[in-house]
Amino acid sequence: MSAKPKCVIVTGGANGIGKSISKRLAEEGHSIVIADVNEDNGLSVAKQVDGLFVHSDLTDRRACKKLVEVAYKEFGSVDILINNAGFQHISPVVEFDEDKWEQMISLMLTAPFLLTKYAWPFMKSNKWGRVINMASVHAQVASLNKVGYISAKHGLIGLTKTAALEGGELGITVNAICPSYVRTPLVDNQIAAQAKAHGINEDEVIEKIMLKTIAIKHLIEPNEVAELVRYLCSESAKSITGSSLNIDCGWTAQ
Ligand SMILES: NC(=O)c1ccc[n+]([C@@H]2O[C@H](COP(=O)([O-])OP(=O)(O)OC[C@H]3O[C@@H](n4cnc5c(N)ncnc54)[C@H](O)[C@@H]3O)[C@@H](O)[C@H]2O)c1
Repeated sequence: MSAKPKCVIVTGGANGIGKSISKRLAEEGHSIVIADVNEDNGLSVAKQVDGLFVHSDLTDRRACKKLVEVAYKEFGSVDILINNAGFQHISPVVEFDEDKWEQMISLMLTAPFLLTKYAWPFMKSNKWGRVINMASVHAQVASLNKVGYISAKHGLIGLTKTAALEGGELGITVNAICPSYVRTPLVDNQIAAQAKAHGINEDEVIEKIMLKTIAIKHLIEPNEVAELVRYLCSESAKSITGSSLNIDCGWTAQ
């Protein structure tokens, strides 16, 4: 772990990967601020990690600003920012809903930019900071019918690299994590939707669609991603910046 406890913002911390990250970093002794639209789950996770829940729709610029202000007010610094909130919408480009496109770009690209911008001065003044952007294999390769998600995630890599260059002299590292399918509510919904669309059962969706072209044939568990986040937040990872770390069962090796 890093030398002393830090204030950590985890967006989308109410479920899935964000929930696991919140728990893992709380075990390191850090103070956790969870931002999410899901109030019930967010409050429950905040209670489990003895942290703070801030009800935030991060597609709203004012909510991003307020989140950083609240975290600073409560804990006196903002040291680690985990840009994790996201959602999936599946449709071909030609039918892709314009509002969904805007929401996806707002949540998965604009909010990480805004939160980085607002948290940056606090990290700079402490000469220490970690920004971790939850990207995806879909930040590196495309798949059919996911144009909003894939465009946002590719953009997130550009944000990661640029901020990393600017943070180099300030003690701030900025990295992206690129998982393949992780067993979370987001993926459970996709499995159910694909089963319906293809008229097959959910096990067949996992086996025949999701795991078809990857080397290690399983869904990743959220705690595997959380462990990589813990490492990136530690002093041992101080030389890693501007990187996109794959945890993708070999998806992008081919
Ligand atoms: N599950 C996967 O297979 C997988 C793979 C690669 C990358 N990712 C990425 O990991 C991140 C977390 O995904 P997950 O699988 O844990 O999903 P999830 O659906 O379990 O959790 C996402 C969280 O984001 C929150 N959220 C959605 N819209 C929001 C908004 N407007 N403002 C604030 N919070 C909002 C949701 O309420 C939810 O708690 C996402 O960015 C996703 O793209 C997931």
